Amino acid sequence: MDQPDSHQPTSQQPMSVLNVAFSRIVTQAPLLAGTFGVFVTLVLFGALSPVGGIVGFLAVFAAVAVLPTSVVTVTRTADMPPPPPTLPTTNVGIFIDALTDPCLVLDRRSVVLHANEAARRQFPAIGNGNPLTFSMRNPELVQAIEGANRTGTSRSVELHETVPSETWEKVVVSPLRCPGVDWFEDEGRQLIVTFQSLTELKRADALRSDFIANASHELRTPLASLLGFIDTLLGPAAKDTAAREKFLGIMRGQAERMSKLIDDMLSLSRIEMHQHVRPTGSIDLAGLLREVREGLMMQARAAEIEIRLSLFEGPTTTTGDRGQLYEVFENLLENAIKYGADGKFVELSLAPSSRPGFVHQITVIDHGHGVEPEHVPRLTERFYRIDADTSRKKKGTGLGLAIVKHIVNRHRGQMSIKSSPGEGMRVDVFLP
Ligand SMILES: Nc1ncnc2c1ncn2[C@@H]1O[C@H](COP(=O)(O)OP(=O)(O)OP(=O)(O)O)[C@@H](O)[C@H]1O
Ligand SMILES: [Mg+2]
Repeated sequence: MDQPDSHQPTSQQPMSVLNVAFSRIVTQAPLLAGTFGVFVTLVLFGALSPVGGIVGFLAVFAAVAVLPTSVVTVTRTADMPPPPPTLPTTNVGIFIDALTDPCLVLDRRSVVLHANEAARRQFPAIGNGNPLTFSMRNPELVQAIEGANRTGTSRSVELHETVPSETWEKVVVSPLRCPGVDWFEDEGRQLIVTFQSLTELKRADALRSDFIANASHELRTPLASLLGFIDTLLGPAAKDTAAREKFLGIMRGQAERMSKLIDDMLSLSRIEMHQHVRPTGSIDLAGLLREVREGLMMQARAAEIEIRLSLFEGPTTTTGDRGQLYEVFENLLENAIKYGADGKFVELSLAPSSRPGFVHQITVIDHGHGVEPEHVPRLTERFYRIDADTSRKKKGTGLGLAIVKHIVNRHRGQMSIKSSPGEGMRVDVFLP
């Protein structure tokens, strides 16, 4: 939109005739000085008599005092018209350049007059001076622009793109109305198009509903089995002591599974809630790893697995939350024991970090069946299990690695998982 015209009338006080004449003379002083010089030269060279010179100059002087200044000014601006303001230097241009969301200004034919930096970054195909439809052909967007142009009212659409990645945008097309100008008559009317990303919101929404669906499914399975056993115990097996013993044992296992699931979900939500708060405790990692190993000794023995612990001689303290870091290494070592092939060994080690920006590196290696590479990036998703039945049999909920990832993030650490089928898995945790 253009800036206010500097020649527009302003609300000034009426001036006296003398004042007006004086102001015109002051305004045109350079012109008068030039004219005076010309007359003096003509008199000096004898081309004009002194009287003629004086009369001539006075005539010019009088003309300047009488003629309105605007005649002179308008003539001058007509000779040398200033360049029309380009959009980025106008108020709207400056304003939309300051926006961090993509924003475009279109003319009435949908030609892009201006695209701010965010728009150029997100839609590199958009070019100033080209119709928007050259780069964005979404029919709903085209319809919204056409509607806003035709009616002079805002239109809003939701764009869902799947290439190159799945994104959602809320696009609002609004008329840039100038006060006192009829939208439908205005040949220079412009539209402003703003884009607001809904991708994060949609993803969080999908994640939440997935989580609820998964959690209720995971709880429903043991609950259904419990109800089945209770019915059997109340009915056909009411007097069968041996069956009762056996069923109660299974029921206990199912109840424990439900209890672990609820504990894990609570633990995950607690960690998420405090993810932005940095832990403050001082932790000796060597001592912590020894404790984790002791805690899982029984389980390892049952699987005939040896835990080889290798610690590094040197400072092994870090800042962290002891309980949470214990959970991290317990989860990783437990996975190594659960999914590492029976009869082999697992390695747990602490060393100086090989990754720049971190101090400690804790590594857990097993020599089990490993996983296919396509599963690796998804292992830290909630409830992600390659073989749900096997995991369930091993009392797994599929939340272990999701909890590990969140705790590591909270400690400003990083985690890397490497695995190939038949060769086991290696998990590295880097801590500051
Ligand atoms: N060391 C490993 N070797 C092979 N597969 C693994 C290993 N660690 C994890 N996985 C796979 O990744 C999945 C997710 O692991 P995660 O620790 O999150 O869940 P879980 O062990 O099934 O349950 P939880 O840890 O809650 O008891 C497992 O179900 C398993 O399929
Ligand atoms: Mg696990």
